[in-house]
Parts: sequence; structure tokens; C-alpha cells
Amino acid sequence: MEEPSVKQCCATFYGSDFARILLGDSFHPGGTRLTGRLGNLLALTRESHILDVASGRGTSAFYLAESFGCKVTGVDLSQENVSLAIDEAGRLGLGGLLSFQVGDAERLPFGDKTFDAIICECAFCTFPSKPVAAREFVRVLKPSGLLGLSDLTKTEEAIPELEGLLSWIACIGDARPTRRYSEILALAGFQAVTVEDHRDALVSMVREIQGKLFGAEIAVALKKLHLPGVDFGVAKQFAQTALQATQNGKLGYAVIVSRK
Ligand SMILES: C[S@@+](CC[C@H](N)C(=O)[O-])C[C@H]1O[C@@H](n2cnc3c(N)ncnc32)[C@H](O)[C@@H]1O
Repeated sequence: MEEPSVKQCCATFYGSDFARILLGDSFHPGGTRLTGRLGNLLALTRESHILDVASGRGTSAFYLAESFGCKVTGVDLSQENVSLAIDEAGRLGLGGLLSFQVGDAERLPFGDKTFDAIICECAFCTFPSKPVAAREFVRVLKPSGLLGLSDLTKTEEAIPELEGLLSWIACIGDARPTRRYSEILALAGFQAVTVEDHRDALVSMVREIQGKLFGAEIAVALKKLHLPGVDFGVAKQFAQTALQATQNGKLGYAVIVSRK
């Protein structure tokens, strides 16, 4: 079933200046270091054609094309992010290896058996229908193609201290435990290859966000930055709660590699 409001809320947030101020260009824990790890796990080469699902501003696609020489197609729901990625690919002279287009992970605009591998970083948790997206991944992968997922994980039990803040971060509220992601992928037809725990990357990212929130709040107070509608009180409370939940194992970050 379509849930355009959650999807659009997510795409709008990640297309915003506020997201860029907090997260930089790479919108996932571990940044391009963890993207490089995925590239190695997927054994990318110059012959690989990969799909980056929810490619954001293209940072991972640029990194993989430059590091592995592979061809990368990026797809993202945010027109804003796709336009920025296309402009940057041209500026970097990577236009021959890269292409970006608007599209929905649950209805990928590509033919069957098109790609050698797929990456999907910090986005699967936001998809309202994860089984539908997983089946789409299977459909567009070539036989034996690899999927490299990196994503937020959350314990099955409710996290009361976070629940009250979930409306603010509606699109990550549906993160699942690692084993649930693995089950969804298995049901779609994937075989498990590797699972890695990268919770440390999430702790570092939340700490960085706390520093950036502090700086942004001062810049807004000094009228050097204009961020209408941002409630710094809620944002700081959320970051602190998320840090504690990560440190006590209720939130985490995992890499899951599977084969079609
Ligand atoms: C946390 S960002 C991650 C971006 C990128 N993968 C990265 O790591 O830098 C989540 C991205 O998912 C995109 N997104 C959310 N729902 C989507 C969907 N259903 N289909 C495609 N992209 C989606 C958002 O627009 C946003 O760019």
C-alpha cells in the first residue's frame, strides 16, 4: 500500500539544508569509509554495473566510481537530491560512469536482471513496504548478483524514551533488528552472505551531529544561518536520547550482504 506522506517526509528532510548541515554529503554512519567496505564485500570491479538505491546526493556513487572504476546508477525519491547528484557528477567529470534518476525503491524504474550488484545505505529502514522493495532488488539483479545493505537497526521492544520523538524522525522509526532485515531478504529470495556490526559508526555520527547542532543553534541565534521551523530543543533531546540508546545497544548499525 502506498504511504506517500512518510516517503515524502523522508525525501523532503534528506533534501533539506538542515540535513546537509547535520550530516554533510554522506547521509549514513561511517561515511565513505563504510561505503568502501561495502564495495570490497561486493567485490566491485571496472566491469561491475551497480545500482545505488536511495542514492541521496550521490556521494557514495562518486566514491565507488572513483575507487573501483565501476558504473553506478543512482535512484532516489528526492528530485532535489537527484539534481544535485547530476550536477556534481558533471563537475567531477564522472558523467560517463554515473547516472541518476528519480524513482521509488518499491517500484524501481529498471528492467529485470539489469545490475551486477545493489547498494542501499541507511534507507531500507525508511521504506514503508520493505518486502516489496526487497522483491524489487531481486528482480533487477542479475542471477547471483549481490546486495549490500547498510542500515539502522532497532531492538524489537519499544524504546519508550525515543517513541515520543518518533514523529520528528518518522522515516527512521521503522528500523528493525538485524535478524528481521535478514528474514525479509530471505523471503524475497536472497541467501545470506555476511552480517557485520557497525554500531561504533553510529555512535560517532550522533556525536558529530550533537556538535553540529550546537554550532547551528549559535549561528541561527547570531542570524548567520536561516533555518525556519527547526526546533533545536527537540533536535538536541533526540540526539542525546539516540546516543544513549546506541550506547546501550537499543539502536545500532549493520551491514548485511546477500546473494540472489
Ligand atoms: C539517510 S538518506 C541516505 C542517502 C544515501 N544512501 C547516503 O547514504 O548518503 C535516505 C535517502 O533515501 C531516500 N528515499 C527515501 N525513501 C525512498 C524511496 N522509497 N525510494 C527511493 N529513495 C528513497 C531519501 O530521499 C534520502 O535521499
